Amino acid sequence: MRVTVVGSGFVGATTAMRVVQKGLAEVVLIDIIEGLPQGIALDIKESSAVEGFEPAITGTNDYADTAGSDVVVVTAGLPRRPGMSRMDLLEKNAGILRGVIEQVKEGSPDAILIVVTNPLDEMTYLAAEMSGFPRKRVMGMAGVLDSARLRYFVAEELGMSPAEVDAITLGSHGESMVPLPGQATVSGKPLSELVDQPTLERLFQRTRDAGAEIVALLKKGSAYYAPSASVAQMVNAITGDTKEVLPVCAWTTGQYGISDVYVGVPARLGRGGVEEIVELALSDDELKALRKAADGIRAKCADLANL
Ligand SMILES: NC(=O)c1ccc[n+]([C@@H]2O[C@H](COP(=O)([O-])OP(=O)(O)OC[C@H]3O[C@@H](n4cnc5c(N)ncnc54)[C@H](O)[C@@H]3O)[C@@H](O)[C@H]2O)c1
Repeated sequence: MRVTVVGSGFVGATTAMRVVQKGLAEVVLIDIIEGLPQGIALDIKESSAVEGFEPAITGTNDYADTAGSDVVVVTAGLPRRPGMSRMDLLEKNAGILRGVIEQVKEGSPDAILIVVTNPLDEMTYLAAEMSGFPRKRVMGMAGVLDSARLRYFVAEELGMSPAEVDAITLGSHGESMVPLPGQATVSGKPLSELVDQPTLERLFQRTRDAGAEIVALLKKGSAYYAPSASVAQMVNAITGDTKEVLPVCAWTTGQYGISDVYVGVPARLGRGGVEEIVELALSDDELKALRKAADGIRAKCADLANL
């Protein structure tokens, strides 16, 4: 299997490292900056003897080297700076994404695309439109990250291991993230029995703001360790055909009463991409919030046509 990572910044470089270290695929790392992907690839290869993995990674500025990729992860684009919203990035990153997808579809017409560039939901839609690929082969990464952050915050609150916490978030990446309190458990016990409602709300809000919390601390750039871990989990599900159900930004065709929009939903991932959108039993409030998030994304995608 061949996985191309477009963009060799913080998210791209750490994603490439995780994918190659885990032995999920041969990795091609590409960027417009000369020397950057080559330098990162060489640095990663030089760690292989110590870490004990096959150094199957190439850095390049030429899309010819990415031809025939099975999975293409798109991280090219600007990250947020303090005070910037993900939407502030829309115009700039839409231009970058258009150029990237043009090149990717040429050399890797059968690839599965995982979009990471923000604003996530809109960029995923744009990648699907630009590539013309079947929608099940185009998805975005946000829900795995948001869910991981929520799981960590719950674990921290209760003094437990994050591995004991199960939780999932749907909807949009950002303010319209939809946490599912009914699905959250700690060592198998419902989370709602372990914390009171105000604590639950505080943990959900911290998760919505988690990206901005890191941006404010770093001062320049945004998060990359948790984002790249989340992308690697999706890559593993696809290359390993694991059929895992993960929350991803996927194209809806009537599930949850939502159609024709990319939104965060639980999706079964495998070699075919999004092989099924799984319909969980949601409360009325959760369903309402999910539909509202989908309406918000639909409106913003309509704005893309005016850029
Ligand atoms: N979906 C998520 O949950 C999530 C999480 C973290 C970051 N992000 C987003 O991921 C993107 C990347 O973040 P980062 O921290 O790695 O940024 P970064 O600035 O470190 O890296 C971006 C890289 O993209 C490259 N690039 C720009 N135009 C390109 C092009 N046309 N072709 C190839 N490469 C190009 C740049 O040279 C740079 O190396 C941002 O848009 C950020 O907001 C999304």
